[in-house]
Amino acid sequence: MFEKLTGMFNKQKGTDDEKTLLQSIDRSRLPQHIAIIMDGNGRWAQRRGMPRSLGHRAGVESLRNIVKLCSELGVKVLTCYAFSTENWKRPQDEVSYLMDLLVEYLQKELDELHSEGVRVNAIGRIGELPNQPQEALKAAMEKTAGNTGLLLNLALNYGGRAEITDAVIKIAHSLNNKQLKIEEINEKVIAQYLYTSGMPDPELLIRPSGDFRISNFLLWQLAYTEFWLTHVMWPDFKRIHLLQAILDYQRRERRFGGIIKK
Ligand code: IPE
Ligand code: IPE
Ligand code: MG
Repeated sequence: MFEKLTGMFNKQKGTDDEKTLLQSIDRSRLPQHIAIIMDGNGRWAQRRGMPRSLGHRAGVESLRNIVKLCSELGVKVLTCYAFSTENWKRPQDEVSYLMDLLVEYLQKELDELHSEGVRVNAIGRIGELPNQPQEALKAAMEKTAGNTGLLLNLALNYGGRAEITDAVIKIAHSLNNKQLKIEEINEKVIAQYLYTSGMPDPELLIRPSGDFRISNFLLWQLAYTEFWLTHVMWPDFKRIHLLQAILDYQRRERRFGGIIKK
């Protein structure tokens, strides 16, 4: 049973070094949009006898490294799941720590993100976050609004079902005030009402930490996304892991329900 389960995950190739991986990647076929469920911080810390908070802090380091690599590679969009609509169920002190860490990350990293041309964006029910994170996000988004490099979407108080619900409400308003007609509603129009309006769907979803589920992330957008799962915990997720994921993605055959003529 265990063997069967581990078979679903990607084997870590210990021999792959960064340079070899970089050379193997086809730069003309990079995923335009990569989504990551940044999971495993708590377990990473607990296994080391440390409080979960230190796992979250170590996870921020991984975020920094991966944002930088995506930016260097020329990936267009990176969406990172940082706090879900379900994460409010956690103890109050863990939630507060995560909110403080977000503010600290945005304040410390803003200049560097800006100089790398990264555009910071937030997706989720941002209006329900505490004031400080909202202010820090606003400042980061305003400062980087004109940047044309990597679009970094931070998914915060994000839920796929909440996003679809919000889109349905917005569509109902548009119908009500006659900006939209029922016969005009199609998949493209629905996508325009999501938080990710105007962005391509992710071609690659990465979930570290060995859990094998979506956890309410990008339910609409992941319809045909390639999944890459690893047992590596997010704080241990390094540049080589992202390169392995991209390389693996480039070797896959994407059929979208059709067949590929050989
Ligand atoms: C992901 O790590 C961070 C957030 C959900 C905010 P976790 O805190 O879920 O770590 P595990 O899954 O308990 O190890
Ligand atoms: C998903 O991780 C949310 C984030 C990484 C922000 P969780 O740790 O909350 O997911 P579950 O509870 O294991 O499904
Ligand atoms: Mg988790």
